Amino acid sequence: MLKSLMELREEAVEQLKQLQSSQELNDFKVAYLGKKGKLTTILRQMGKLPMEDRPKFGQVANEIRQTLEENLALALKILSQKEQTVKLQSEKIDITLPGYPFSAGTMHPITLVLREIKEIFIGLGFTIAEGPEIETDYYDFQALNIPLDHPAREMQDTFYITEDLLLRTHTSPMQARTMEVMAPNLPIKIIVPGKAYRRDEDATHTPMFHQVECLYVDKNVSLATLKGILLSFARQMFGPDREIRLRPSFFSFTEPSVEVDISCFNCGGKGCHLCKQSGWIEILGAGLVHPNVLRMNGYDPEEVSGLAFGMGVERIAMLKFGIDDMRQMFQNDLRFLNQFRV
Ligand code: PHE
Repeated sequence: MLKSLMELREEAVEQLKQLQSSQELNDFKVAYLGKKGKLTTILRQMGKLPMEDRPKFGQVANEIRQTLEENLALALKILSQKEQTVKLQSEKIDITLPGYPFSAGTMHPITLVLREIKEIFIGLGFTIAEGPEIETDYYDFQALNIPLDHPAREMQDTFYITEDLLLRTHTSPMQARTMEVMAPNLPIKIIVPGKAYRRDEDATHTPMFHQVECLYVDKNVSLATLKGILLSFARQMFGPDREIRLRPSFFSFTEPSVEVDISCFNCGGKGCHLCKQSGWIEILGAGLVHPNVLRMNGYDPEEVSGLAFGMGVERIAMLKFGIDDMRQMFQNDLRFLNQFRV
């Protein structure tokens, strides 16, 4: 039996030299060392040997197993390196193939319109100021001549955080904040782009929306100044043929207050679906800064005057791009957003 063990060893070593692939190596391993492999089978017959021969037999068998395992591992290493090299040499990478398309983002319609508005007012000599979206009752209302419990508060359905803190319902609190910091210096000539919040949602309202506030405080600022600025804005934004119209209105913080319309750029004023057959489209609320607001925030209404207006950015974007539902602007639907490429 010891002899057949030696024969097995010779046979195995001989075969080992001829193995060509890792698949063949594996087959070899199973054939000799596997559960039903040749070495294992011989070892199982050890019981038939006389007691005194068994240790020697076991020792030789173990040596053979160890030798085979070591050689196998070595052969496997060499072979897999060879296979890897062959694979690398045969594989070709075509570096001239076109790459994967990289989808670039687009500017949101609100961003596009905001940029255009800012450009126009910078051209008219205004600077840009920004303020907090979480505001105090004081700046959002009281400093704008809207006392606690004043019915004018009902024009704006407010998100309150505490009794004193709220999400600003308009960008007008920046009028008060700016005057407070600037007083008594002149002039103040700012626009305030930013978000505002009201509890309101339908095709022309969203709970979060954007406004651009304008404040101009100086000596001799009048309704004529307001009209000149707005006409220039309307023509740059909506075309050189636009006219504007002021209608009386009410805001606590301006006196007089006006609602500003532009002649319809769709029909030129004849009447169409966009202007609801009126020939005019309302774009913003405005007025001359109320004497109380000037006084409360450090200016003497006998000495200086101011104009202010606030426009809705979504509304202007809807008009400019022909969008019929404001909510689409905040649904992040790429089919909608991809239409506004510059
Ligand atoms: N803050 C007003 C609004 O949101 C707009 C406005 C601003 C009116 C400035 C007059 C002057 O409705």
